[in-house]
Amino acid sequence: MTDNSRKPIRKAVFPVAGMGTRFLPATKAVPKEMLPIVDRPLIQYAVDEARAAGIEQMIFVTGRGKGAIEDHFDIGFELETTMKERGKDVSILDGTRLSPGNCAYVRQQEPLGLGHAVWCARDIVGDEPFAVMLPDELMWGEPGCLKQMVDAYEKVGGNLISVLEVPRESVSSYGVIAPGKVDGALTEVTGLVEKPKVADAPSNKIVSGRYILQPQVMHTLQDQEKGAGGEIQLTDAMAKMIGNQPFHAVTFDGRRFDCGSKTGFVEATLAIALEREDMGEDVRAIATRLLG
Ligand code: UTP
Repeated sequence: MTDNSRKPIRKAVFPVAGMGTRFLPATKAVPKEMLPIVDRPLIQYAVDEARAAGIEQMIFVTGRGKGAIEDHFDIGFELETTMKERGKDVSILDGTRLSPGNCAYVRQQEPLGLGHAVWCARDIVGDEPFAVMLPDELMWGEPGCLKQMVDAYEKVGGNLISVLEVPRESVSSYGVIAPGKVDGALTEVTGLVEKPKVADAPSNKIVSGRYILQPQVMHTLQDQEKGAGGEIQLTDAMAKMIGNQPFHAVTFDGRRFDCGSKTGFVEATLAIALEREDMGEDVRAIATRLLG
């Protein structure tokens, strides 16, 4: 265990270089991460969650066709000037401006998997622990998921992943943890299995898109062979670190929407629209009418 294990978490990596094939044709020219839930793109929810957890630098691992993400977090000079000239309020754009000191972009030249995408950020991450956030998993709760994890990290250090409990019959589509000692929302992780059969699953706690990792994971990724689906898997690299460094799971107190799937995306849209003060009542009336 190095001195790094409790350094503050200042950087978050957002892997956004995937092809988004489940959302074609919508994602042919528009990055999946820019698809909006009501009026905010998915990536904006993740960046806001990171900011609320104290993250100072957002590192986006992008690829070809992902330029809209850079534009989104830039200053929209013409837009803002014109809006101001017309007396319109631009405060709605406040969360979208990331100054050069607060963001960095690195390219993943081929979509070789999540592990490879994280590895592409190694030079910017450097020798300090960091967060990884998958923007297509929308974590909805207060405090946010990453904040809950950072609070846990301050107690136990090391590596953490967020988990959710699901019905046992549905574990086979996910990464599943083998649990050790449980202390409230914190569970020691003694193993990780990707997409196990129901009968072989070590628990019903699935890995859910938020990670706090020690920088050593970059060395593990560097040496790693391709795994399931011919991709370099983050789960495999993390599994190798269990036993060498503290590894815990935090059960997220909130809701998770899998916006990488079409039904999850629709669910998130409906759930968040129903909660919005500016439209919840109208949407409830529409949903009730549609459901007959
Ligand atoms: P997913 O597997 O959910 O995204 O990866 P995908 O590959 O874009 O989507 P489908 O399955 O083809 O519809 C989870 C996250 O990891 C990123 C994706 O952009 C997404 O945010 N990712 C995945 C990369 O950055 N690089 C990769 O090589 C793979």
